[in-house]
Amino acid sequence: MKKRIISPIIQNIKIAHGTYKMTLFAPYIASNVTPGQFVHIKIPRDSSLLLRRPISVNGVDKNNGTIDLVYRVVGKGTSLLSKLKPNELDLDLLGPLGNGYKVEENIKSLWLVGGGCGVAPLKLAAQKWSNLDITAFLGFKNKSEAYQIDDFKNLCSQVFISTDDGSLGEKGFITHILIKHISELRPKLILGCGPISMLKILKQISERYDVPCQISLEERMGCGMGGCFVCSCAIGIKDSWDYKKVCTDGPVFDSREVIFDEWP
Ligand SMILES: Cc1cc2nc3c(=O)[nH]c(=O)nc-3n(C[C@H](O)[C@H](O)[C@H](O)COP(=O)(O)OP(=O)(O)OC[C@H]3O[C@@H](n4cnc5c(N)ncnc54)[C@H](O)[C@@H]3O)c2cc1C
Ligand code: FES
Repeated sequence: MKKRIISPIIQNIKIAHGTYKMTLFAPYIASNVTPGQFVHIKIPRDSSLLLRRPISVNGVDKNNGTIDLVYRVVGKGTSLLSKLKPNELDLDLLGPLGNGYKVEENIKSLWLVGGGCGVAPLKLAAQKWSNLDITAFLGFKNKSEAYQIDDFKNLCSQVFISTDDGSLGEKGFITHILIKHISELRPKLILGCGPISMLKILKQISERYDVPCQISLEERMGCGMGGCFVCSCAIGIKDSWDYKKVCTDGPVFDSREVIFDEWP
């Protein structure tokens, strides 16, 4: 169940170029969040920023009642967040929102495929399902934008890294590395999050190799709770399609249902 929570900031640090990790005291969310779910944050100090900003939960510490958010500074809201200091003010959050990834009990091997800030929610998946045989495929633009690789190495059996310019790991897109391994090491399930271009390829790969795949979509959001239709996207249903809301029907969808034709 979602709640409105007023959360003290415990830490807010830069972890990579343009990327920050904020730790918040939010015991209710720490105990109830599923990987892939997000919090909707009211941006403080600028009343012109009316809409809350959605950020996925990146990690939890249930003993201390904290959650981590990893966010990239892309505009006014995230820039304001990056300047907040611990104990300076409490953040107003709604959460946990949306549905998360679903991993059935019979699943023993899991692939996590993330690109850029899409790597962030997959760390919570690696934390939650660390008892499974997890292989992570993490793609970044370059070495200075890479983050939390040691965390993934601690939680996963194998980690593959790629960067667009080859400054860390293999040069090229992470989906190129994935395709090299999928025919021998076929996983039972793939969980993906990242740019649309990556998710489109992931959808094609999962269909070609017949491996179920869940992907998390990013859409501009208004209310975050199903009331405004700002986040609608096309989802296939049987032989037809319909609009679904990313905030409440998603953000995680079965990749086979997502119709990417309308996406840029
Ligand atoms: C379910 C969900 C989970 C998310 N999780 C994370 C996360 O864990 N870490 C993270 O860094 N970002 C995440 N995002 C994206 C994040 O919400 C946006 O980057 C943020 O709202 C931008 O706010 P802003 O005020 O800084 O930028 P704005 O000034 O609002 O916009 C700046 C630029 O970012 C683009 N943008 C804004 N919002 C979105 C969006 N929702 N999707 C795609 N592009 C957008 C705009 O088109 C514009 O080009 C998530 C988005 C969704 C929908
Ligand atoms: S953001 Fe309002 S319906 Fe999804």
